[in-house]
Amino acid sequence: MMLPVSHVVMARTVWSLCMMHFILALGVNASDNSVNFKTRCLAFKPESYISNATLNRLEYVTAGTNLAFPDNDPSCGRASQVVNVDLCRIALSVPTSQRSGFNYELWLPETWNGRTLATGNGGLDGCFGTNNGHNGTSGAAFYQNEDVVIDFSWRALHTSVEIGKKLTPLMYDKKVGKSYYLGCSLGGRQGIGNAEKFPKDFDGIVAGAPAVDFNSLYSWRASFFPITGDTASPGFISPDTWKTTIHNEVLKQCDYIDGVEDGIIEDPILCHVDTERLLCGYSNSSSTDCLSAAQVKIVKAVYDDYLWPNGTLLYPRVNPGGELLAATGLYSGNPYAPSADWFKYAILGEPSWDPATYTQDDALLAIQKNPAGIASWPSSLAAFQEQGGKLLSYHGQQDQQISSLNSVRFWKRLADEVDYDLEKMDAFYRLFRIPGMNHCAGGPGAWTVGQGGTTPAYGIPFDKDHNVLAAIVDWVEKGVAPDEIVGTKFVDDNVGAGIMYQHRHCRYPYRSTYSGIGDPLDISSWNCVNFGGY
Ligand SMILES: *[C@@H]1O[C@H](CO)[C@@H](O)[C@H](O)[C@H]1NC(C)=O
Ligand SMILES: *[C@@H]1O[C@H](CO)[C@@H](O)[C@H](O)[C@H]1NC(C)=O
Ligand SMILES: *[C@@H]1O[C@H](CO)[C@@H](O)[C@H](O)[C@H]1NC(C)=O
Ligand SMILES: *[C@@H]1O[C@H](CO)[C@@H](O)[C@H](O)[C@H]1NC(C)=O
Ligand SMILES: *[C@@H]1O[C@H](CO)[C@@H](O)[C@H](O)[C@H]1NC(C)=O
Repeated sequence: MMLPVSHVVMARTVWSLCMMHFILALGVNASDNSVNFKTRCLAFKPESYISNATLNRLEYVTAGTNLAFPDNDPSCGRASQVVNVDLCRIALSVPTSQRSGFNYELWLPETWNGRTLATGNGGLDGCFGTNNGHNGTSGAAFYQNEDVVIDFSWRALHTSVEIGKKLTPLMYDKKVGKSYYLGCSLGGRQGIGNAEKFPKDFDGIVAGAPAVDFNSLYSWRASFFPITGDTASPGFISPDTWKTTIHNEVLKQCDYIDGVEDGIIEDPILCHVDTERLLCGYSNSSSTDCLSAAQVKIVKAVYDDYLWPNGTLLYPRVNPGGELLAATGLYSGNPYAPSADWFKYAILGEPSWDPATYTQDDALLAIQKNPAGIASWPSSLAAFQEQGGKLLSYHGQQDQQISSLNSVRFWKRLADEVDYDLEKMDAFYRLFRIPGMNHCAGGPGAWTVGQGGTTPAYGIPFDKDHNVLAAIVDWVEKGVAPDEIVGTKFVDDNVGAGIMYQHRHCRYPYRSTYSGIGDPLDISSWNCVNFGGY
């Protein structure tokens, strides 16, 4: 568990409410307290409370410090981070078996609101939060070491939460209040996997674009390279063709379904791309902006649901619109590295495995093997729900890495257990679909919803209406559940350049619906409408 700077920003935001309590409760002079905190921090011996743990760092960090992370693998791509408040930084190495262990940072802000927040990783990463038991983005450490896979699947996160809850009260002489989790992608899976396996760890979980049904997600991702072929294969579709010819056709067929031509497909459920229309000469067209029959076959295979030979679903189809970024990702004619590593090191145990040879036999094996129970595909989260847990999920509708239709599939899987009782679902699990958002962030939509733990300034309040983290806190602590989340699009995605527009994001099964009147960039021109179907 690490309290990232974004959370610390939140601590500061909430502090204004809590400060009075804090000072009155402890009855101390604020500046004395500051000296006390630094002294307490530097005198702390966290390693003495945790079996066999090694202390790597203990430092008092002042607000504004650009903290370097030399212990993290360079592949993590985050060498440093500016810290926004004074805090006590603790870094530990914790063994989990004779042949495994994880690194972990615990950041204790000087002014504490009593909450804890754990964060997750992406891809196959061993980076921030904990390092998930290995270092960097490669899966090589999984090879012939099931313990490293166990750490990656759940043990590093769960153990770090236990350690965090043990150490934190020692620093403040105060009990831990509510416990939260915030993550996207693999991090979304970590949150849901944790709710399944350790329902008491968190009171509130924000799971963005969750990589649930993990093994089949990795199979689906592995399936694209054999479909597209490598960049030298005949009929290979260039990134440029995906981004122009194909993307334009997708928009032509689907952008206007919602009544607004804005480059955003509001609901991919309604968009079924007819790939035949890309064929040169279709409908006697003389356009040369078209594809050969072999290329159309590739595009169709890419856009279709991923099915087993008997016709049942292995993993849902891609998000239309996602081709803009998948062009240089999943459809780029290169093996998708995390899938290749997962099969090489965790499933097959063959470092020399060739991703071009991937077939559904590999997919079946992955499901059967399900290393360290990583699937994260529960049919019920009853235990989490019964202890009062709340799960807020969000998913970009043009996610180029994990289909948002899989989040709908997951919602239905849980809903099926309660006979599609919407009130029962709403009581503990809400899925917000974000049109025009890429994987976890970015895109033409109003995608800023506080997924980094904070909302940028410039008039966007840190509250349940605009920020997923604030929303989960209100839900857990006040019982006020978010019905809609207002997302913000900044001009050129530059916060300093001001707000371009805002949009109301709806929870499933509500659908963002244009009223038919008014400027589509005006938030009041859209409503969340429940069409009554799923
Ligand atoms: C708090 O402590 C500072 C420094 O020790 C001192 O200057 C100040 O007067 C104290 N304030 C109160 C309200 O006691
Ligand atoms: C701590 O280390 C000792 C000696 O290596 C070992 O016997 C013991 O099992 C370890 N305890 C834990 C909790 O890892
Ligand atoms: C990760 O790096 C640490 C040093 O920072 C090392 O102790 C540990 O063994 C590494 N983990 C793996 C799985 O290689
Ligand atoms: C295409 O052209 C042929 C020959 O002119 C004509 O018979 C046919 O109806 C046309 N098809 C369409 C879809 O317009
Ligand atoms: C279809 O095949 C998959 C993979 O072998 C299997 O898991 C599934 O149960 C089958 N479904 C039916 C309806 O036979």
